[in-house]
Amino acid sequence: MKFFVTTPMGTEGVLADELSDLRIGRTRAVVGGVELSGRWEDAYRVCLESRIALRVLLPLADAPCRSERDLYDAAREVGWESHVSPETTLAVSAVGVAPGLDNTMFVAQRTKDAIVDRLRALTGARPSVDRRDPDVSVFVRLARGRVTLALDLAGESLHRRGYREPGAPAPLKENLAAALLRLADWDRESPLSDPMCGSGTLPIEADLWARGVAPGLSRERFGFERWASFEPSLAKRLAVLRSRARERAREAGPPVSGFDRDSRAIEQARQGARRAGAHAKFERAELDAFEGSSPPGLVITNPPYGERLAGGRALYDALSDAFDRLAPGHRVAVLLGPDVPYSPPRVAERHRLKNGDLSVTLAVWDVG
Ligand SMILES: C[S@@+](CC[C@H](N)C(=O)[O-])C[C@H]1O[C@@H](n2cnc3c(N)ncnc32)[C@H](O)[C@@H]1O
Repeated sequence: MKFFVTTPMGTEGVLADELSDLRIGRTRAVVGGVELSGRWEDAYRVCLESRIALRVLLPLADAPCRSERDLYDAAREVGWESHVSPETTLAVSAVGVAPGLDNTMFVAQRTKDAIVDRLRALTGARPSVDRRDPDVSVFVRLARGRVTLALDLAGESLHRRGYREPGAPAPLKENLAAALLRLADWDRESPLSDPMCGSGTLPIEADLWARGVAPGLSRERFGFERWASFEPSLAKRLAVLRSRARERAREAGPPVSGFDRDSRAIEQARQGARRAGAHAKFERAELDAFEGSSPPGLVITNPPYGERLAGGRALYDALSDAFDRLAPGHRVAVLLGPDVPYSPPRVAERHRLKNGDLSVTLAVWDVG
């Protein structure tokens, strides 16, 4: 079977590396994600074990689309009845544009109409729409005069691990944090510290990765387990994969710590770590007091930028001083937003990425 695993722009390569380390299917990195050929259980393992994936899509159709009529006809042609029944609930989301179709809400609506019309014609009954917690999530993408229609196996986006309370200021998405750790090429043995950790996403993801704790274990079930096509025999197999993943988690990991000047952020980070079962430690501290770790390890951080840039040049001067104080042997990885008043010296690698809509760069170098 062919699946498409989505990921933020700039992280496609590390997602492919992660899936190949996990020995999941055959992969090919393309813009916006990774094409995956494999079996159902490979797709399930992505949901359960990938830290970087955002969604896992099962493509059902790819057709030319130059009008609303083309969209409707393409959607009406798909054999939705294999996965959707009048008893399952449904939600459709859309991205992209095509001629005459520049409103994604309308695109989603027309696709939903086509699905409902088809099922009603076949069964005399229709599935209802539930945008908040649907059994089946349909994904529509319009690009270059074509429409692709897919089902989302994950259901709720995979970055939502469930350990973070809403309300943290400017948090990184959990899957982007995991991608940054891989881009920084952390060895998962040396210490890791984040001097501006906010709600602690980088240290928490680092600890879970180092100890092999699968991110999807906290979810009771994934989207496709609610599809009409989901077979009880597969449920047994998935339970085995789940318990194997649980057995692989290790108790001991390297020292992982986070610091922040804001005591509320530290409290949120501690609570998040507790909920995630992460061993990362968090302390309130100013950047001026940061000295890295002993023995040296990875210093990785996501300083404020854009509208959230509090402190401006003074903050980046303090950050630059903190990096200058680090003992040789440390590696630094810093996520820089557009127009930050800082240009790190001796950068060995620059990874260009998207953090939501913002173009950002992860700069990485070794302290010699
Ligand atoms: C963009 S947020 C980090 C978000 C974090 N990666 C997360 O996922 O929640 C930047 C953090 O830097 C902290 N900060 C700003 N100036 C600081 C300073 N001088 N010393 C320590 N922390 C500072 C802020 O309190 C804020 O929590």
